[in-house]
Formats: sequence, structure tokens, C-alpha cells
Amino acid sequence: MEVTFRIRRQNPEDPAKKKPYWQEFTLQNVAETDRVLELMHRIKWEQDGTLAFRRSCSHGICGSDAMRINGRNALACKLLVRNVGSKIQLEPILGLPVLKDLIVDMEPFFDHYRSIMPYFVNNSPVPANGRERIQMPEDQVFMNDTGNCILCACCTTSCPSFWANGKYVGPAAIVQAHRFVFDTRDEATAERLDVLADPDGVWRCRTIYNCTPACPRGIEVTKAIGEVKLAVMRGTNKGVIKASDIKVNH
Ligand code: SF4
Ligand code: F3S
Ligand code: FES
Repeated sequence: MEVTFRIRRQNPEDPAKKKPYWQEFTLQNVAETDRVLELMHRIKWEQDGTLAFRRSCSHGICGSDAMRINGRNALACKLLVRNVGSKIQLEPILGLPVLKDLIVDMEPFFDHYRSIMPYFVNNSPVPANGRERIQMPEDQVFMNDTGNCILCACCTTSCPSFWANGKYVGPAAIVQAHRFVFDTRDEATAERLDVLADPDGVWRCRTIYNCTPACPRGIEVTKAIGEVKLAVMRGTNKGVIKASDIKVNH
């Protein structure tokens, strides 16, 4: 089959291409099982080597090829032609500065990520086994879902609250915070909840719900944000998540 791409391009460093513009590419001999990312490689290798986009793993794990595909955030390596049709429009994700074509500056996104202390904190003496801080399976399930985040930014850059105010910490950072706030071994809950109680923290989420369907990992983003909001309100993570609310990952 034939597939037509319409790609939003821009090169802020080139005076002639400073403003965004659309460019079309047509590919022949495309199978409906081809992935969008493979076809982008074909465009780059066969038609225009200057087309710029990020990618690494090609298997939905690294999170580097998030983009707007036919108006919705997705990973180009996870979508097949049969999922999107023969006319494919590609744009960079919204709310972050464009560096070139489909590549955006992720630094503001990672600044928010760093702000929630995305690392395990435990200053208690090393346990008797001398090796690891054991966690029981019934406690591990609290962070089952949010622990699957690959930091692709599909959620944050689909959030109108983030588009309106780039200082909003954003759903991805809250998902990461959730993973540590509900880790029974972590000892920095109070500090994290303080960061999230900031005016640009969790309360900027207006429950618009764009983030949840945008997540390529199927994480229940809005639900996780709701749980973090409850923890901030109560000043503790205790009793916020009920065992009956926990999603089972298969
Ligand atoms: Fe990507 Fe989902 Fe993590 Fe958001 S929560 S950064 S959409 S994996
Ligand atoms: Fe935005 Fe998701 Fe909240 S889209 S407003 S973070 S529910
Ligand atoms: Fe790694 Fe798509 S290239 S997630």
C-alpha cells in the first residue's frame, strides 16, 4: 500500500526554516504491519536525511520517540500502520521547546522529574541480612502500576494544565512521586509531599484526564494523581490506597 506522511518541521538554527512548516512524503510498498518508526527511518534513509527525530530501543521501552501522531501523543515504535491509517501526520509533543523537527528540549520535563526526589531514601541502619531492604509482595503492589513509567512525557505533554503553565510539575513527575510515596521502605514521604503541595504541584491537575489515555504503558495516571492528592491532603501515605483498588498487571 501507499502511505503519505505530513510532518511538521522546524529548525530554529536555520533562518530559512525558523518558522514551523509542513512537508509531505509518500512511501510505496508499505505493509499494514509496518511500524510508524520504521517508516520514518525509510523517509530519513531514502528521501531526506535531514529529518530529525529521537529513537533508541524501537520496542516501547526507552520512551524516546514520543510524538503527536494524527493528533494524539504516542510512541512511534508502538503504532502500526493498521492502527493509524494511510495518512499519517506527525508533530512534536506540545509544551516543550522544539530543538529540531520532532525533537524537543526535554530539560524542563526532567527538571520537574528531579524536583520530586525520584530516588529511594532510607537512612535506617542496614538490615541484619546486610544486603537488602526486604519488601513483602502485598506491599510491593502499591507501586505496581506507577513503577512501569518509562518517562516518555506523553502524559505531561498532553495535559492542557501543563500547556497553560509550564511550571506545573506535570503528571509524569507525579507518577514517579507516587512510585516512591507508596514504597513502604522509603523514608522521604514528608519531603516529597511538601514538594507536591506547592501551588505548581498536584493541585494544578484539574482532572482533565488527557494523560491517562496518552500513556503507552497503560498506567492509570489520573488515578495515581488522585492518590497522591489524598496523601498530600492527609499529610501521610497511610491508608490512602486500598488493596481492592489495586490494578493487577499481567
Ligand atoms: Fe510516559 Fe506513562 Fe510515564 Fe507518563 S506515566 S511518562 S505517559 S510512561
Ligand atoms: Fe492534566 Fe491529567 Fe490532571 S491531563 S489536568 S494531569 S488528569
Ligand atoms: Fe524506545 Fe520507542 S524507540 S520507546
